Amino acid sequence: MADEPQKSAPLDGQIAVVTGAAQGLGRAIAERLANDGAAVVLADLQLEKTGVEAEHLRQQGLDATAAGLDVSNNAAVEDFFERLAVERKRVDILVNSAGVGQKVKAVVELSQEEWDRVLRVTLTGTFLCCRSAGAIMERQESGSIVNLASINGENPAALVAAYNAAKAGVISLTRTLAVELAAYGVRVNAVSPGPVYTDFNKSNMLQRSLSLGISEEEMIERVRAAVPLGKWGEPTDIAAAVAFLCSPDASWITGEILRVSGGMEGVSAAPPKRS
Ligand SMILES: NC(=O)c1ccc[n+]([C@@H]2O[C@H](COP(=O)([O-])OP(=O)(O)OC[C@H]3O[C@@H](n4cnc5c(N)ncnc54)[C@H](O)[C@@H]3O)[C@@H](O)[C@H]2O)c1
Repeated sequence: MADEPQKSAPLDGQIAVVTGAAQGLGRAIAERLANDGAAVVLADLQLEKTGVEAEHLRQQGLDATAAGLDVSNNAAVEDFFERLAVERKRVDILVNSAGVGQKVKAVVELSQEEWDRVLRVTLTGTFLCCRSAGAIMERQESGSIVNLASINGENPAALVAAYNAAKAGVISLTRTLAVELAAYGVRVNAVSPGPVYTDFNKSNMLQRSLSLGISEEEMIERVRAAVPLGKWGEPTDIAAAVAFLCSPDASWITGEILRVSGGMEGVSAAPPKRS
């Protein structure tokens, strides 16, 4: 019998960087891109954990390496991408998943430190990585960037103003960069996830349940019931959308903000008066 022709994976030979890849959505995105054929660099503040996750992927026969990176540190980001350009010769895909949630607080009680902390990582970190990788992609005249926004970026939820503003900024940055890099054949899109039960949301649910005086289980159930498709998302749901936007199937898509949320557009509930 003749050998079956080898099917090539959609991202074969591509060099991909995923920030925030030690856990949660970034971890799932890294696995998906590697399964689709990319050589993936998992970059995160948590170097040890990232190393363990990269090793798990290598044990599955995938191409994965770990790097320690603070996306909010400009010098570190520039150095990271310059070294990558030298060692790997190119950067084909950047997924910005590193981000931090906000302590659940009304604006009138929100400290400037907390505002700055959230903006520095979630918005400025995304900008710094886009700037460094974008310069490389512009030079090579190809590439794809996918930023993790949020449904909160378009429909702000109460008590997380800094996070909402950061994600609105990520959406604006994505659309700006999409037009600036279009002439170079570089595509820039964002995925806006709805609720997925990662560490990020565990902490959010706990704080929100305390602020409403209900149990954590009840809070989780309220969110589930508010999702039109009737369930929380899985990290793989988000990873599939990111992989699509990186793939040749999306070669005519740029500046798109793709909501992946089971139909949820946002949370509009007004909190009760604070005690
Ligand atoms: N989980 C959700 O429901 C949800 C919904 C909408 C948007 N998002 C967004 O998706 C992204 C991933 O969320 P997640 O749920 O996986 O969160 P997570 O908290 O589980 O993971 C975030 C990762 O980012 C890393 N990180 C934090 N600060 C960093 C820094 N300065 N430099 C490098 N890495 C840093 C953390 O170490 C962690 O590994 C975030 O941008 C988040 O805002 C998540």
